[in-house]
Amino acid sequence: MTTPGGTRVRVVHERDVPAADAWLDPVERKTLAGLHVPKRRADWLRGRWAAKRAVAHWARLGESPSDLARVGIRPAPDGAPEAFVDDRPGPVLSISHSGPWAAAAVAPRGPLGCDLEEVRPLDDATVDLFFTEAERAEMRREAAGSARDQRTILLWSAKESALKALRAGLRRDTREVEASTGREAEAGWGSLRVRDDADGRVFEGWWRNLDGLVLTVVEGCAPSRRE
Ligand SMILES: CC(C)(COP(=O)(O)OP(=O)(O)OC[C@H]1O[C@@H](n2cnc3c(N)ncnc32)[C@H](O)[C@@H]1OP(=O)(O)O)[C@@H](O)C(=O)NCCC(=O)NCCS
Repeated sequence: MTTPGGTRVRVVHERDVPAADAWLDPVERKTLAGLHVPKRRADWLRGRWAAKRAVAHWARLGESPSDLARVGIRPAPDGAPEAFVDDRPGPVLSISHSGPWAAAAVAPRGPLGCDLEEVRPLDDATVDLFFTEAERAEMRREAAGSARDQRTILLWSAKESALKALRAGLRRDTREVEASTGREAEAGWGSLRVRDDADGRVFEGWWRNLDGLVLTVVEGCAPSRRE
């Protein structure tokens, strides 16, 4: 699928990941051999399966194991994934896993962040700890129950996407980035914004509901609007 801003996103399920590892390159096979915790191993594999196919599509490669093995995904020192095709830098890439699902977004340039979350209730203490007052007000505009759960997870996911675009992740306080949803909607996507309190930059992106999952993509940054 493609966001209205042109970012391509691949969403995969664990049942689609091949049992054989011919689609991994030698460095990735070595990494996999060192992953002993079953959940981490499964998450990593699913994320690589989504990412390598997204990058292969970007590079106009096929999806055979030998084509996918030409795509290398390497973690940068900060943990952000970086894509290579035949050892040359590829597109900007972001990866997320959630339950049996994974998503990978690719774009020609950053900032880019994507996040996939299963819709679930968050308790009040968690909401108070991680969200700003404005975000809590946006949640309260929805009726308690599934609509509010979805709005809460959507705002959380938008914050995670922005923190990935910043390459900081949860090293930053999640209340330093404030998410809101916009009125714009296009082909099943809704617009979102995330403002970084540190410098007033506003990230822009899109979200969509995928049958109990929320996908968010932050794919650009408007000029600073600090008052
Ligand atoms: C980025 C972060 C918020 C993702 O949280 P998560 O609950 O694992 O969520 P997701 O499944 O959506 O995302 C995981 C992916 O985020 C990406 N990622 C990790 N660190 C990232 C960073 N600094 N910037 C951008 N993307 C990052 C990776 O691709 C990772 O998947 P992979 O390791 O299989 O390649 C979290 O990993 C984080 O805060 N990392 C930085 C701090 C850190 O390194 N902590 C060590 C672990 S406690």
